[in-house]
Amino acid sequence: MVSIKNIPEFLGKEVEIAGWVTNYRSSGKIMFLQIRDGSGFMQAVAEKSKFTEEQWADLDKINQEASIKLTGTVQENPRDSFGYELSVSSFEIFNYSNEDYPISNKEHGVDFLMDNRHLWLRSRRQWAILQIRNTIINATYDFFAKEGFIKIDSPILTGSACEGTTELFELNYFDRPAYLSQSGQLYLEAAIFGFGKCFDFGPVFRAEKSKTRRHLTEFWMMDAEMAFYNNEDNMEIQEKLICYIVEAVLNKNRKELEMLERNIEALEKIKAPFIRKTHKEVVEELRAMGSDILDNDDLGADDETVLTKKYDKPIFVMNYPKEVKAFYMKEDPTDPSRVLCADLLAPEGYGEIIGGSQREEDYDKLLGRIRELKLPEETFKWYLDLRKYGSVPHSGFGYGLERIVTWICGLDHLRESIPFARTIQRLQP
Ligand code: 4AD
Ligand code: MG
Repeated sequence: MVSIKNIPEFLGKEVEIAGWVTNYRSSGKIMFLQIRDGSGFMQAVAEKSKFTEEQWADLDKINQEASIKLTGTVQENPRDSFGYELSVSSFEIFNYSNEDYPISNKEHGVDFLMDNRHLWLRSRRQWAILQIRNTIINATYDFFAKEGFIKIDSPILTGSACEGTTELFELNYFDRPAYLSQSGQLYLEAAIFGFGKCFDFGPVFRAEKSKTRRHLTEFWMMDAEMAFYNNEDNMEIQEKLICYIVEAVLNKNRKELEMLERNIEALEKIKAPFIRKTHKEVVEELRAMGSDILDNDDLGADDETVLTKKYDKPIFVMNYPKEVKAFYMKEDPTDPSRVLCADLLAPEGYGEIIGGSQREEDYDKLLGRIRELKLPEETFKWYLDLRKYGSVPHSGFGYGLERIVTWICGLDHLRESIPFARTIQRLQP
């Protein structure tokens, strides 16, 4: 069996492929089948004269999503973007499809398609997006291996909240409260004392009440944490990672980017150095553009959109006011009302893809913050321990995989960037 993506190596040879019929058309004497096998898409051509009446009658019953094995010779087909087609000599039908396959080649509404996500995944556009997602995942693992990181898996069931308590999914854990992890960060902070530079990659959960195109309740986060890194070093490695990912997609997924009609030139501009601005500078810039953002406000989604539409490179927004950021961030020694942090915003209106910071390494200051924010001190006892036994300056960051996929693919909503999206409204399929 040959995978469609390898077909160009078999020009003039007889091969066998197996897949599904995405479309078909017959003139009575000749039938054109569009075949998908997971690795790619190609056309197969069957001529009536090569088959018995009985065989042709079987082929004539073919329908969209029928599963089929085809044997034939690989020929050039300059009229098709793939460049090759299969001239069929024999076939075997595994299954015809029911006639009521809900997704036709016509336009459908997004809600309808999301209700049929289990079938929609078969469509070309979804194929292209999830191929790119796969490249981004692999590039991330590659990058960290090259940079000397070790993957440390963080737990999903946790007793302490990483990112504040408003968006926690709580569950009954043998009559005690437990939470679904919002980020593996705190556990990676423990791990750097044994391993230096670590990352994790897994699903995280946020009981987000916001129904925006940027929020999922379950999404994939990659957290990285590095001992002896300050906020500057932290931004530098993020910049390197993002450039590495974009380059990997440009190398491996040109065809997919074209299928998505993504502006490839915009991706080619993603080169270091990225733009660096302080929160204070950004607030002034936003106000000049008409935003009503206040000095100590977090950036709203609209602020991120207008800001990042102005630039063709990612932007680090640094040193946010302490009150809008998490308890673990290190106080800015030059301005105690701010923290040493940076959010990385993707250009073209996409907004935040990474959140990161230097961490508070001082025991008393960290405990002070936990108390100030009235966080449950006992659940952070283990985390505070990390500041008692050889505490060091350290930093880390977390990316949202779906935010990166959405940006790189040029999508307008996160829901297509993950195989099965979870939002407030959606738990099916
Ligand atoms: O900015 P966040 O909340 O940062 C953290 O969780 C840190 N503990 C990470 C760290 O320092 N290790 O989340 C990180 C990223 C965001 O920048 C965004 O890309 C994504 O996670 N994200 C979401 N993606 C989809 N749906 C949501 N509801 C998201 N919330 C955050
Ligand atoms: Mg954030």
